[in-house]
Amino acid sequence: MIVEVIGLGFIGFTMSIVMANAGISVIGYDENSGVVCAINDGSYFGCNEMKRYFDSALEAGLMVFTNKPLKANIYIVAVQTPALENGKAEMVYVNNAIESIIDLLSPGNMLIVESTLPLGETERLRALIFNRRPELIGEISIAYCPERISAGDSYESVINNPRIVGECEGDVYEVKRFYELFMRGKIYCTTSAKAEMSKLIENSSRYVQIAYANEISILCERVGLNAWEVISLANTHQSINILNPSIGVGGGCIPIDPLFLMHDYPENSRIIEVSKHIDDKKKNWCIDVITKRVLLFCEKEYRRPVVAFMGLSYKPNVSDMRNSVALSIVDKIRDKDICDLFVVEPNIMDCGIYKLIKIDYAYSIADIIVFLVAHKEFFFSGDNHQVIDFVGVTKRHAI
Ligand SMILES: NC(=O)c1ccc[n+]([C@@H]2O[C@H](COP(=O)([O-])OP(=O)(O)OC[C@H]3O[C@@H](n4cnc5c(N)ncnc54)[C@H](O)[C@@H]3O)[C@@H](O)[C@H]2O)c1
Repeated sequence: MIVEVIGLGFIGFTMSIVMANAGISVIGYDENSGVVCAINDGSYFGCNEMKRYFDSALEAGLMVFTNKPLKANIYIVAVQTPALENGKAEMVYVNNAIESIIDLLSPGNMLIVESTLPLGETERLRALIFNRRPELIGEISIAYCPERISAGDSYESVINNPRIVGECEGDVYEVKRFYELFMRGKIYCTTSAKAEMSKLIENSSRYVQIAYANEISILCERVGLNAWEVISLANTHQSINILNPSIGVGGGCIPIDPLFLMHDYPENSRIIEVSKHIDDKKKNWCIDVITKRVLLFCEKEYRRPVVAFMGLSYKPNVSDMRNSVALSIVDKIRDKDICDLFVVEPNIMDCGIYKLIKIDYAYSIADIIVFLVAHKEFFFSGDNHQVIDFVGVTKRHAI
């Protein structure tokens, strides 16, 4: 059995390594030859934790990477589905990926889409395939199996997180048996429509919950209360589980997938629309809080402060910078040119534009410390600097 993974980004690359380590022969295909070259020369890693798994998969000799689609038994589509400006899903990558293998499909093959899809798209892809290859009707399986990888724990999460397998054509249990070759997590079989909806409402739920916590933090600051204390008091109720506030939603999925529902079903996605508004507002609110504090410092001290920004990745304890709100806040403050700024990001070695400094050094030189991401390395030193804590590192100072 040969499995071809189409698209070697965060998802496809991780999936390829997991499957090869489980003894499955994998062809990794990406249309971007830069990605393929970087994988082949060992310089490409979705994240550092993958290196040892990549080495062991290579040793097993079960992976090849190519920039041309090749014939296989099972095809897994893992290309990107970004949102357009208006929130509509950009389907061109998925369409092209399917087009690239339509002529390679044979009876007995399985086609699995892991890229996040808007509602009804698996059926549309099925029609696209069978319009061109009607002789394959009843001869292949087509399923939508949305990815549930967790950044920072990508390898283990592919193996252990429960998955939904949504049948569109053929035998869903055959697809389930394939996933069981490399997964330990529970696998739920359903229709492709239910799998599409479950993925979208899952990510939208998180989006709305994050917005709610961030709305509370702005409200609490307005009325002079510590949001962290108030939320933990509310959470003592057995049915309540309000999240901790943050600077906003980042990453590859949560800020994007809810927009597909919002675009396609605006009348039934009001809560997502409001959550998007709150998410944008929270980021700008953080920028305002920092700006006011910096200007107050300038007024009192007759000089620009040194500001250390703590954290740049999109969530705690990962190096992942996709749609990082921290990065966009630091960019905005830099553009204002009101302070001398440094960044502390223990999870990355180099971030190009910003000079990265160590935590201790930041505490020794900074006038103002701004916590943007609650990395485990961060602590509150209690020394002679001002603190702006958006993410609860200090609790007492958190806003
Ligand atoms: N990253 C996550 O945390 C995450 C989690 C769950 C689901 N997803 C979903 O998984 C999908 C993939 O996400 P990702 O983060 O790996 O994307 P990515 O942008 O990191 O990688 C996509 C890769 O696909 C390649 N590609 C694009 N079109 C191609 C084509 N026609 N043929 C071959 N290769 C092609 C690109 O060159 C790129 O290397 C998306 O739909 C995303 O929403 C992602």
